[in-house]
Amino acid sequence: MFYFIHKYSGGFDMLFLSEQEMWQSVTLEDVMDAIEDAYAIHKSGNYKMPDRFIAQRDKNMMLYMPCFLDSVIGTKMLSEFPDNPSLGIPYLNGLMILNDATTGLPKAIMNGSALTAMRTGAVGGVALRYLAPEDAASVGLVGCGMQGLHQLLYACEVRPITDIYLYDAYAKDLSGFIERLSARLASFGKNAIQIHTCADTRELAEHSRVLISATQAVDPLYPDDEELLRGKCFVAIGSWRPERRELPDAVWKLVKNAYTELPYACEESGDLKIPLEKGVLTQERVHFIEDLIEDTKQGHPHEQNETRCFKSVGMGLFDVRTAQLIYEKALGKGIGQKLNF
Ligand SMILES: NC(=O)c1ccc[n+]([C@@H]2O[C@H](COP(=O)([O-])OP(=O)(O)OC[C@H]3O[C@@H](n4cnc5c(N)ncnc54)[C@H](O)[C@@H]3O)[C@@H](O)[C@H]2O)c1
Repeated sequence: MFYFIHKYSGGFDMLFLSEQEMWQSVTLEDVMDAIEDAYAIHKSGNYKMPDRFIAQRDKNMMLYMPCFLDSVIGTKMLSEFPDNPSLGIPYLNGLMILNDATTGLPKAIMNGSALTAMRTGAVGGVALRYLAPEDAASVGLVGCGMQGLHQLLYACEVRPITDIYLYDAYAKDLSGFIERLSARLASFGKNAIQIHTCADTRELAEHSRVLISATQAVDPLYPDDEELLRGKCFVAIGSWRPERRELPDAVWKLVKNAYTELPYACEESGDLKIPLEKGVLTQERVHFIEDLIEDTKQGHPHEQNETRCFKSVGMGLFDVRTAQLIYEKALGKGIGQKLNF
């Protein structure tokens, strides 16, 4: 005979959602709308998001990202193990837990790596909603990994993309990536998009109106060439450490404003920190995309420059709001596995 240790034990259900079930629950547009909600919540100040805690042993890192909203609490736990790709395992793995805001009881657990890719792709997609030319038909991706693939799904959702250009410094054979990308695009009804590989980032930039980077690069990915990069729309989501950068100085010379999510991006990411220290970028030119979104919605967009740039470092609020949406949609559709504990 088994006895519960507490009189309330065993009486609570939580929902477990796999990657596939998470995608079955929501659309790309749903997730981008959740990111816009997250920006609005951030702007209102109605949340509590402690600094993310990073525990590191040698080069392996564990990241803990709690965030309280009025309606729910969420914590994402991620591991970043740089040797994983050489073992055929993703660099980034994780788990997301949602807790009830009133009782703290766990409500759901879901795949944290899938959530990261879904919401980071949507963060890129929202940036393109507000920054990319309406008629942008070509997108280039540097870094053909987990984030890169998802960035492209959302880019193709928000702009009439006909051609995708790919470059990766280390993945020798991109055929597996292209196969996965084509299958995912087809699942969203986008069968006619042409996918090309490039020999280097110069060739990629020559062909692409939108340039997305999703790497762990230490040094800038593109040639430091203003003529080559003029008029492009950049989304840089990788390399969030202070000593790492994806974008060359030319980008900061070309843009009127630099867009990011949070003030701490200027310290956390070398993409902003290094040009700020060098004086290539000034603090007055660094703006928050939540302000651009709100101003645009009120009919006052402030970005008219031909070259545009968004740098993302991410925040726990994106995860919680996205996970909450997935949980609610999954419950409504009867998706997922109820676990009793
Ligand atoms: N901004 C955010 O919110 C956010 C969220 C998640 C991950 N990230 C960051 O995004 C980056 C990519 O993450 P991922 O999960 O896709 O990793 P991944 O390992 O799956 O993919 C990265 C790809 O970039 C390629 N690459 C690395 N350095 C390169 C270089 N110098 N030039 C060209 N290609 C290069 C690798 O070969 C790999 O294919 C990481 O830096 C990660 O920390 C940011």
